[in-house]
Amino acid sequence: MFLLCVLRYALFLLVPLSLILSSYLYLYPVFHLCAFPSPSQDGLSSKFLSSRTTSYLDTLLQHTSFSNDEKIAPFRLLALGDPQLEGDSSIDNVEAAKLPHWHKFLDHGGGGGFGIGFLRGAMILGEEKEEWKTRIINVAGNHDIGYAGDIDQARMARFTRMFGKANYEMRFHLPEGVEAMILGEEKEEWKTRIINVAGNHDIGYAGDIDQARMARFTRMFGKANYEMRFHLPTNTTADDGEEEKEIPELRIIVLNDMNLDTPAGTKELQDETYNFLNGVITTSQDVTRAAHFTIVLTHIPLFKEEGVCVDGPFFDFFDGEFGNGVKEQNHLSRDASKGFLEGIFGMSGNTDVPGHGFGRHGVILNGHDHEGCDVYHYINQSSPPEREWAATKYPQAVATGVTEEMDIPGLRELTLRSMMGDFGGNAGLLSLWFDREEWDWRFEFVNCALGTQHIWWIVHILDLITLGVGVVYVVLAVLQSIPARPAGMVQVGDGKVARANGGVKGPSPKEKTNGHATPQYTMRIGVVEEKDTGKGSLRKKKSKATMNGSSSNGSAMSDR
Ligand SMILES: *[C@@H]1O[C@H](CO)[C@@H](O)[C@H](O)[C@H]1NC(C)=O
Ligand SMILES: *[C@@H]1O[C@H](CO)[C@@H](O)[C@H](O)[C@H]1NC(C)=O
Repeated sequence: MFLLCVLRYALFLLVPLSLILSSYLYLYPVFHLCAFPSPSQDGLSSKFLSSRTTSYLDTLLQHTSFSNDEKIAPFRLLALGDPQLEGDSSIDNVEAAKLPHWHKFLDHGGGGGFGIGFLRGAMILGEEKEEWKTRIINVAGNHDIGYAGDIDQARMARFTRMFGKANYEMRFHLPEGVEAMILGEEKEEWKTRIINVAGNHDIGYAGDIDQARMARFTRMFGKANYEMRFHLPTNTTADDGEEEKEIPELRIIVLNDMNLDTPAGTKELQDETYNFLNGVITTSQDVTRAAHFTIVLTHIPLFKEEGVCVDGPFFDFFDGEFGNGVKEQNHLSRDASKGFLEGIFGMSGNTDVPGHGFGRHGVILNGHDHEGCDVYHYINQSSPPEREWAATKYPQAVATGVTEEMDIPGLRELTLRSMMGDFGGNAGLLSLWFDREEWDWRFEFVNCALGTQHIWWIVHILDLITLGVGVVYVVLAVLQSIPARPAGMVQVGDGKVARANGGVKGPSPKEKTNGHATPQYTMRIGVVEEKDTGKGSLRKKKSKATMNGSSSNGSAMSDR
């Protein structure tokens, strides 16, 4: 049967293609050489290989029996910005949300939407590893959860689908009275813990944040402000045995900076944020404490001049409502940013303060600017009289040596590129490890992108087509085998005949029937012939060729 044959050939092509493309999609970190930065990237191997390749090879090794803990950072953070699966469109109902949004794909060429598969792909690096010591997912600004005002059960359900059981642990906080956790403990629990950072789509900006939105966020995604401390279990006896060294400590501060700037619509909520921030500052370790590292997770990036990142400074205020509060902002104000750097990190343009103004070691991670950015904030202590904080792209700071200057304290700020397809479906991988020689922490960050959302759609549409063709093929094959058997035609083989015809440009069935119908055919061929169909003629042709051995059709037949 001709259709069956076409389908079979289509499947020969479609099945391998679907398998290859689906494997690529669901394992893309493997193909894109994505891996958490490895502590050994400054070691011997880095002389010959790029740091990215070194990290990748170390991660591969981690899955083998040659695994070496030294090469795996004890703290790894998978950071996702704006899990905005629907772009800014809303979900109509839960049922629809379970299926791919074909109409949206057709309307907007895929929109900003990714399906569940994308996220699963993004997490592949983390999912199967037993050795994971710490894994946290930072969802910087859950844009997706609704543009402040309409978080509903459907969105929450979708979030749960995206992150699997992880979201049940989202309310994780450091237990009351516990000072620090041990880095490396509770491996299983950490595999499913998520830190959610409140963004404007969750709670709004300073002007329109209110108690109800705040309560809703807390109920669904955990507190907006909290901190955690970890100690790294390590031998703190110095090599020469002289003195005890400080225990390596990591402090993670999750801060809602949505209402840091004024005016705020709800003063009490702003006070909450400020109280938390003051608590963070007063309970900080001395700036001179060695082996200490602070990670701040927040939403709005720090102030920087136009041109450093894609988003420039921008503020908009309500007029006549919400206490004329902040309606929208791209960056924190200059003052709030200074508060971050000088308050939380204890840095200063003044060399007379403790630690010569170099402050605490750390990094700021945030979102908001979908394009992402990698910035170095610094203050030039030797440029009197008005020492001001400045910011430049991090690679540029490294190239010009600003990061190494003796009198220029500074801090890196990583703005996560969005995980939305329009921004390449990005995930951020942050590794933090302890350098025993320097007795200090070191960190590195890389991006891992899949590509535009159309890749996801194309692969899944192809998979559906393959599945559809496969089903049709099976159904047709079964249907065809049913009437054929009683007629006793099985051994001649429809498929064979059909295939022969596919390769032969013989005379048309009509000519054939007229010209070559001879009595030498067997009964069953005769039955077919009586029907006077094209199919019957073809069978006849095949039979004739076979029986006569070298008929006029012989050479053509052998072509196939
Ligand atoms: C800690 O390190 C010191 C110096 O290297 C060594 O003498 C001591 O045995 C180590 N202690 C442990 C418990 O490993
Ligand atoms: C810091 O300020 C000093 C004095 O004004 C100046 O010479 C130096 O170039 C500045 N360094 C940077 C990196 O701007």
